[in-house]
Amino acid sequence: MERQVIYADLNLSRDSGLESSSAPQNVCQGPPWHKFALKLGCAGITLLSLAVIWLSISVIFLRQKLSIEETSMDVPESRNETTERPALLKCPTNWHPFQDKCLFFYNSYKHWNESLADCSTKESSLLLIQDNEELRLIQNLIDSGGIIFWIGLNFSLPEENWKWINGSFLSSEILPITGVAGENNCVSISKTQMLSEPCDSENKWICQKNLKPVRNKVYSAS
Ligand SMILES: *[C@@H]1O[C@H](CO)[C@@H](O)[C@H](O)[C@H]1NC(C)=O
Ligand SMILES: *[C@@H]1O[C@H](CO)[C@@H](O)[C@H](O)[C@H]1NC(C)=O
Ligand SMILES: *[C@@H]1O[C@H](CO)[C@@H](O)[C@H](O)[C@H]1NC(C)=O
Ligand SMILES: *[C@@H]1O[C@H](CO)[C@@H](O)[C@H](O)[C@H]1NC(C)=O
Repeated sequence: MERQVIYADLNLSRDSGLESSSAPQNVCQGPPWHKFALKLGCAGITLLSLAVIWLSISVIFLRQKLSIEETSMDVPESRNETTERPALLKCPTNWHPFQDKCLFFYNSYKHWNESLADCSTKESSLLLIQDNEELRLIQNLIDSGGIIFWIGLNFSLPEENWKWINGSFLSSEILPITGVAGENNCVSISKTQMLSEPCDSENKWICQKNLKPVRNKVYSAS
């Protein structure tokens, strides 16, 4: 009799244990308030996870929108820096700041092609001159009348025209050249003139580097 009771007890507890772990809906079996509370809890969890999903979606969307706005705002800002902050533009040591470029006046004498090669080793090019105003300002920087400097302009035989080393042709109405326009001629400047000379004459020369805008971040870090 005693053994039978014990067996029944064990059986019952085992059964209830199995039921509670494998079938959660059976936990709801109980007083009505228990069921109600459980349903409320389930609904709460569902709402909460929906809210979390909605929030993360809107965060992702907002961040994308912000980054698009940032990049589109970045362009005009950097443009203004270049035009409105000349103080942020800096020439390397020994280079002469001139408008939006840096100039180097060489004191040795070379053929035109060698001065061209020398400028490119200095990550620069032979001087390019935009117009008469720029020519006049650069000529003001030349000390004495006798000194002659090569610039980045020579005679191009196929086109029979003066050609800048950047590939553009000279507009001769803007910059008149004294001397012959012909094969193996290159252009130099003195304090008073633009001259055509044989390219194998030996002259001083002027290199130019274009100034790059220095970004705010770089400037404040240095
Ligand atoms: C930047 O330049 C643009 C024109 O390029 C101008 O409309 C704008 O007002 C300038 N912004 C500032 C802050 O000066
Ligand atoms: C420049 O041209 C001369 C011939 O006029 C040539 O001997 C020399 O190698 C050239 N130098 C360069 C750097 O191209
Ligand atoms: C080449 O340089 C000349 C002289 O500064 C300039 O007038 C011309 O616009 C430049 N061409 C190019 C393609 O940059
Ligand atoms: C003129 O300059 C070009 C580069 O712009 C070069 O290829 C050509 O050899 C030069 N001509 C002479 C005669 O030096």
